Amino acid sequence: MSLTSARRVLLIGCGYVGVATGRRLVEAGHSVFGLRRSAGAAAELESAGIRPLVGDITQAELLARLPGPFDWVVNSVSSSRGGAAEYRSVYLEGTHHVLAWLSTQPVAKYVYTSSTSVYSQNDGSEVDEASPAEPTSETGRLLRDAEDLLLAAHRERQFPAIILRVAGIYGPGRGHLFHQLLAGEARIAGDGSRLMNMVHRDDVATALIAALERGRPGEIYNCADDLPVSQFDFLAWNAAQLGRPLPPFATEAENATRKRGLTNKRVSNRKLRALGWIPAFPTYREGYAAAIAAAQNPATELEHHAPVVSLTPRA
Ligand SMILES: NC(=O)c1ccc[n+]([C@@H]2O[C@H](COP(=O)([O-])OP(=O)(O)OC[C@H]3O[C@@H](n4cnc5c(N)ncnc54)[C@H](OP(=O)(O)O)[C@@H]3O)[C@@H](O)[C@H]2O)c1
Repeated sequence: MSLTSARRVLLIGCGYVGVATGRRLVEAGHSVFGLRRSAGAAAELESAGIRPLVGDITQAELLARLPGPFDWVVNSVSSSRGGAAEYRSVYLEGTHHVLAWLSTQPVAKYVYTSSTSVYSQNDGSEVDEASPAEPTSETGRLLRDAEDLLLAAHRERQFPAIILRVAGIYGPGRGHLFHQLLAGEARIAGDGSRLMNMVHRDDVATALIAALERGRPGEIYNCADDLPVSQFDFLAWNAAQLGRPLPPFATEAENATRKRGLTNKRVSNRKLRALGWIPAFPTYREGYAAAIAAAQNPATELEHHAPVVSLTPRA
């Protein structure tokens, strides 16, 4: 890469996906900053070549202290507590704050990681970016509201927003059902036919970079792998790989307490693939084969401490 194409990049919410994305951007020669609330992850960010920033985007005044201007901004904050109030504060108010801040500091691209949970289809049908996205849960509606804010900013003032609707993320250390299986706690819900849509963390990272490099502002892209899989098939394949018995079916009482509003759909990734994105883990089989191998050869983390830039004013 020539120096003239090196970008200043800000990753707001530099966690599981953010660090993997930042590492690749640094390797490509970009100058990358990663914002989190806590200082504890500074070493992890710095070891990936990312300059750690500490602050909270729900505090509007924080943004003015960020070391801008930036060429590319990614917002992949995640609501750790998960309730509607937290979603409203992090996704919706956070997006309001970011839009106000960037109205004075133009960027070339802005990518927001939304979720495929905004599609509430539960009939097993295929959904693409033109399909209705009408979430039934309040948290899902808040994600859509944040998308709508960004798309309106694009329509009204050409704000270069791109929405990436991400499926269930798995990868090293992540994958709830797989870990339940390892712990002997997995249950097949219902008849096991509900479809799950997944994507490996590293493929989310390359999708974010494809969106930054080639995504069209004002567009939505689904980010899921090539193969929606039923819960039964997923558990059966992984159990076979691990040499374990198929887990039992859930009891009626367990099924009755299952999370409501679970969807059943096939998320299409055609539009993202047309952008040139090629997933390294096209199905859960490649993704979990790698995870099983990694679990058998755990890498040793190096301790490396980085200077932390705190954006929180001193008392
Ligand atoms: N997990 C999934 O299956 C899934 C599915 C669809 C979409 N997504 C979306 O994908 C994105 C990436 O997810 P992830 O797994 O990488 O999340 P993650 O590991 O939880 O990382 C999110 C990061 O956001 C930071 N953060 C949270 N609130 C913040 C705030 N108010 N100000 C500044 N930073 C804040 C956290 O910092 P601290 O650690 O310091 O708190 C954390 O490092 C998220 O937008 C998520 O909603 C996830």
